[in-house]
Amino acid sequence: KRVALVLAGCGVFDGSEIHEASAALVHLSRGGAEVKIFAPNIEQRDVVDHLKGSPTGEKRNVLVESARLARGNIQDLAELKVSEFNAVIFPGGFGVAKNLCSWAVDGKNCTINEHVNSTLQAFHSAKKPIGLCCISPVLAAKVFPGCEVTVGQDKNVDGRFPDAETASAIAELGCKHVCKDVSESHVDKANKIVTTCAFMCKAPLHEIFDGIGTMIEEVLKLA
Ligand SMILES: *[C@@H]1O[C@H](CO)[C@@H](O)[C@H](O)[C@H]1NC(C)=O
Ligand SMILES: *[C@@H]1O[C@H](CO)[C@@H](O)[C@H](O)[C@H]1NC(C)=O
Repeated sequence: KRVALVLAGCGVFDGSEIHEASAALVHLSRGGAEVKIFAPNIEQRDVVDHLKGSPTGEKRNVLVESARLARGNIQDLAELKVSEFNAVIFPGGFGVAKNLCSWAVDGKNCTINEHVNSTLQAFHSAKKPIGLCCISPVLAAKVFPGCEVTVGQDKNVDGRFPDAETASAIAELGCKHVCKDVSESHVDKANKIVTTCAFMCKAPLHEIFDGIGTMIEEVLKLA
């Protein structure tokens, strides 16, 4: 199975969440998938000093930063040809909400990067599965009103889901939010959209890793 993986930079606060990107790649490798990595060739919304947790004022490019995670083997998202792939995966991280769309500032009123939108539309129209984790399901919620996704729980159960209000924003977009734990994925069979909450849940890293594994497994089954 040939799978495209779309990155949003490198680092949880301004790019792709590194552990999620890596988990997705490990599970794709175990599943025997042939993977190509893409990212939009655009400037990052901001650059965050991950030690201090504050913006640095620097300018960086999403494709160049994502190339770190891809070990240099990456292409401009504008060049992705859906006909060459069976599925697409979007790991999470704030970069998704800052660079692939404007969710971090605009919430449900966000705009979506044109290449991200056209990629999602193209896989969806070709009935090829789309896998998303963490905050990335908001991309599907924005582009495919009426779809079903999970970002974990819609209440901050035991303090494990501090961003539970994301679930209400998804419902306000006309989508169905399905509550799932970190170890589970939700499969929207009609839309072939597979989602799991990953770091939206304050869970041990191995549980997040395994949850992403269930998402990849379901995507490969549908591919
Ligand atoms: C979205 O837009 C509506 C209408 O303009 C506005 O009332 C609302 O505050 C906006 N929401 C966010 C999260 O920006
Ligand atoms: C995605 O692209 C389609 C087709 O160009 C457009 O109609 C739609 O409004 C776009 N969606 C978003 C969320 O930008």
